[in-house]
This record gives sequence, structure tokens and C-alpha cells, in this order.
Amino acid sequence: MTTTLVLGGTGKTGRRVAQRLQARGVPVRIGTPSASPPFDWTDQVSWAPALEGVGSVYVTYYPDLAVPGAAEAVGAFAELAAARGARRLVLLSGRGEEGALRGEQAVRASGADWTIVRSAFMAQNFSESFFLEPVRAGEVAFPAGEDLAEPFIDADDIADVAVAALTEDGHVGQVYEVTGPRLLGWAQAVAEIAAAAGHPIRYLSVSLEEYASLLVENQVPADYVKMLTEVFAEVLDGRNAYLTDGVQRALDRPPRDFADYARAAAATGIWDAR
Ligand SMILES: NC(=O)c1ccc[n+]([C@@H]2O[C@H](COP(=O)([O-])OP(=O)(O)OC[C@H]3O[C@@H](n4cnc5c(N)ncnc54)[C@H](OP(=O)(O)O)[C@@H]3O)[C@@H](O)[C@H]2O)c1
Repeated sequence: MTTTLVLGGTGKTGRRVAQRLQARGVPVRIGTPSASPPFDWTDQVSWAPALEGVGSVYVTYYPDLAVPGAAEAVGAFAELAAARGARRLVLLSGRGEEGALRGEQAVRASGADWTIVRSAFMAQNFSESFFLEPVRAGEVAFPAGEDLAEPFIDADDIADVAVAALTEDGHVGQVYEVTGPRLLGWAQAVAEIAAAAGHPIRYLSVSLEEYASLLVENQVPADYVKMLTEVFAEVLDGRNAYLTDGVQRALDRPPRDFADYARAAAATGIWDAR
């Protein structure tokens, strides 16, 4: 059995994909800058050693497929992977982003057997990423109108779809656009987290400029602030406010609901108030 390289294998979806593959007895190599051998998107020299003996790759680009140069890097990696014998590539992509579409195109052009998992906004951004501290502190500020609808998806569902595509027949050439089963306004999502966490959390809809200032105040590096504000300026206009059937199509089961995610995350104590 060949090894599966999981890029971002310690991240929100990569960690879950690696765990599921290992549980199935699939040999896994984690692809991150601190892994051995290391894999770094910014250091092309690291790519070939990470691909040694690899038959399939779960491709997650860091920090985001929307950043300039992302599609070119993903394309160069996909070509190298295919040339080195990695037949199957499963790409984690985002909805409604020009850069993500270019990244998808680059993987499709690589000559490998590809599957695209085009994901909605992950619920785990509230518990494993940039919303965790605001949730704990009781106020989430974001440049999305209170009622802007988003079908938040559980990273466990993304991982299940990715693992199916990596290990089973019938997923090659598929674009799975994956969302949760319910559209939620941003204020509603935060209210459901507050109910599960058992302490009040306010949602504050702010302008992009106010959001950028808040990030700077919180010592977020300037290039990361620029990246985030550009991505959010592009996608937070209602274009993603619809449900899709990607999870059902890939797994023959419905996606998990946001309330179930919130209950499970709260039970770990991750959102206990500071
Ligand atoms: N978050 C969402 O809601 C969402 C939705 C749709 C699509 N996406 C797409 O998903 C992709 C991943 O985003 P994410 O938010 O889910 O992040 P993530 O996978 O949680 O990101 C963290 C992972 O990236 C690794 N990493 C950090 N710097 C790296 C580098 N220079 N080279 C290689 N790996 C590096 C980290 O390794 P360490 O542990 O060593 O730091 C960690 O494994 C992005 O391309 C994004 O466009 C995200």
C-alpha cells in the first residue's frame, strides 16, 4: 500500500483526514513545515522529499487559495506529484473565490486523478481557529451583516468526504461542493454557540476597515490582515448563501447540523469563558 501525504496534516481538516486514514490502516505522511521530512509551500525544495513513495495526496494550501501565487504553487506541486507517481489528488477548495477556482483548474490540469472538495465556511473556525479567542471573550466582531446567511460545514464532514475520495472508487473527476444542512445568519450562529457554551456572546457586524483595525490591534501580521480582508471582501456578499448536496452525493448521508457541532465543541470545555 502506498503512502498518503496529508498537506496541512495538523490543521482543521488535515488532522481529521490523517486520523481517519490511520484508523483504516493507510500509511500516512504529514506535510507541514515542522514534519519530518518538512513540507513548506514557500520552499519548493521541500516538495520532492515529501512526495517520496507517495501514491495519493490530500492537498490543502496554506494560508488560503485566494492569496496571490497560490494557484501557481498548487499547480506546480500537482504536476510534480503526478510526475513522481502520486496518482490521486484531493484538493480542499473554497466557495465563491476566484483564486480557489484557479487552484482547482491547476489541479485538474495536472494529469492526476483529481477530486475537488469545495467547502463552505468551517464551523471549526469558531473552536480551532481565529474565532476561538473572541468566542471565549464573549464578543465576535466580523465584517458580515448579522443576517448574512452561511451554511457552516463541520470539518468532520469535509474529512469524511476527502477520505472517501482518497480511498474509494467512484470519486475521481468529481467536484463536491460541501455545505452544512442549514443556512444560518452570523448572529444566529454565534447565538447557538452561546447557548451551547452557556455564557453570553455578542455578535458585532463591523466594516472591513474596522475589522482590519481590530486585527492590527490584536498583533495579527500586516500581510495576514491584508489577505483576510481581501478574502472577506470577496466572499461576504451573499454569493455563498445557498445549500449544496456535496456531502450527500459523496457519502450517501446528510451533513451534520451546526447545533450538533456546537454541542460537541462546548462539551470539550473549549469555549469556557475566560
Ligand atoms: N477555514 C475555512 O473555513 C475554509 C473554507 C474553505 C476552504 N478553505 C481552504 O482550506 C485551506 C486550509 O485552510 P484552513 O483554514 O483549514 O487551515 P488549516 O488547514 O487549519 O491550516 C493549518 C495547517 O497548515 C500548516 N501550515 C502552516 N504553514 C504552512 C506552510 N508554509 N506550508 C505548508 N503547511 C503549512 C499548519 O502546520 P503547523 O501545524 O505546523 O503550523 C497546519 O497543518 C485554505 O487553502 C483555504 O482556502 C478553508
